[in-house]
Amino acid sequence: MAEWTKKSWQNFEALQQPNWPDAEAYEKSVATIAKLPPLVFAGEIRAMKKDLAAASRGDAFLLMGGDCSEDFENCTAPHIRETLKIILQMAVVLSYAGGKPVVKVGRMAGQYAKPRSADLETIDGVSLPSYRGDMVNSPAFTKESRTPDPARMVHGYHLSAATMNILRAFTKGGYGSLERVHAWNNEFVKASPMGRNYERLGKSIDRALNFMRVVGIDTNTPQFNQAQFYTSHEALLMGYEEALTRKDSITNEWYDCSAHMVWIGDRTRQLDGAHVEFLSGVKNPIGMKVGPKHDLDVICQLARKLNPENEAGRLTLITRFGKDIEQHLPGLIRMVKREGLDVVWCCDPMHGNTYTAETGHKTRNFNDILQEIQCFFEIHWAEGSVPGGVHFEMTGQNVTECTGGGRNIIAQNLAENYQTNCDPRLNAEQSLELAFQISEMIRG
Ligand code: PEP
Ligand code: CO
Repeated sequence: MAEWTKKSWQNFEALQQPNWPDAEAYEKSVATIAKLPPLVFAGEIRAMKKDLAAASRGDAFLLMGGDCSEDFENCTAPHIRETLKIILQMAVVLSYAGGKPVVKVGRMAGQYAKPRSADLETIDGVSLPSYRGDMVNSPAFTKESRTPDPARMVHGYHLSAATMNILRAFTKGGYGSLERVHAWNNEFVKASPMGRNYERLGKSIDRALNFMRVVGIDTNTPQFNQAQFYTSHEALLMGYEEALTRKDSITNEWYDCSAHMVWIGDRTRQLDGAHVEFLSGVKNPIGMKVGPKHDLDVICQLARKLNPENEAGRLTLITRFGKDIEQHLPGLIRMVKREGLDVVWCCDPMHGNTYTAETGHKTRNFNDILQEIQCFFEIHWAEGSVPGGVHFEMTGQNVTECTGGGRNIIAQNLAENYQTNCDPRLNAEQSLELAFQISEMIRG
């Protein structure tokens, strides 16, 4: 077999790549990114893998969240802060009420490219390239907007750097301190029953911190006043990912420094495809989506190829089965056990539960989401495996994209604040409510 290099994916078929109209401009863009600094560092990536290894054993719980697809316009301090706040809030609920350390991950700072089912979209007889995420083109249905523009990758890199920068500032510069738990409570959520539950929990944390100080424990340490926050995104645009792949000078290993964890989707995980080749050689933790159409034998081969040393924390299986979870998950768990594969099990209760409301909006119902999580836990308990984490499409904004939850959003409310360019997200209140429900499940 030919040796892996950061370019060896080029010898394999890469699906879901845009048809960049100007090859020269494309080469120029990836060369520009290749010269720019990495967005994350190898040492951080290794730390994340260790944390994920703990999640695979049940000694930690993985919480991932973010937009289905980030958009350039929303790369603003308030938007990033609100999403971070809700993830921190959920993590506090899961760690304090659930009693486990939480591995906090934003599918952020690079989630700018989306796989699509068709290359072209046709409206009223006019066919244009599909929208593939802001790093490729823009959603407006005009020839100009939809033509893939590689300069967008460079812009996407800079916005990812800006996002990373503010995330680091918030989490390391005091905002992520446990003393700030109350400040993370969103104005919109505060008055709701969930917000009040959260305030109560915040007060217990205050008392616990105060008690620690009284007995002489120093709470002015990173464990208390900083949060460890990791990033992930789907590694879809191969040129972008290659350009950010760097050799670590300490270990001589290759890392994709575009994010700590990189995802691979159902549509690009062909065993002989470019994405699998590329990811098999970088040392990052990998998140692999597993939907209802999976083939057990293929998943097994992929796990072997992507994690040949069966390293703990390297591979997370992100299952997304919706109502059919009981048909699919037990078989998958048994195969993984039988083959002795070391994985983190993560439930994505969003993508198998999407439907179109009578108003025409793409939506998901809160109870279906909760139901899938509950089944995920119960099936793992029954099979004797570890339910290691969850992934949500969510935002700190007060959107009306998913139905149900405490405020019981109904189909007729969806138009009130429906913002997503891609999949519907939980709002802050719905996300917090799920965190409280999950904390009960983690505690077992
Ligand atoms: C996603 O992961 O947000 C998504 C839309 O997945 P897919 O298109 O791969 O099903
Ligand atoms: Co999505």
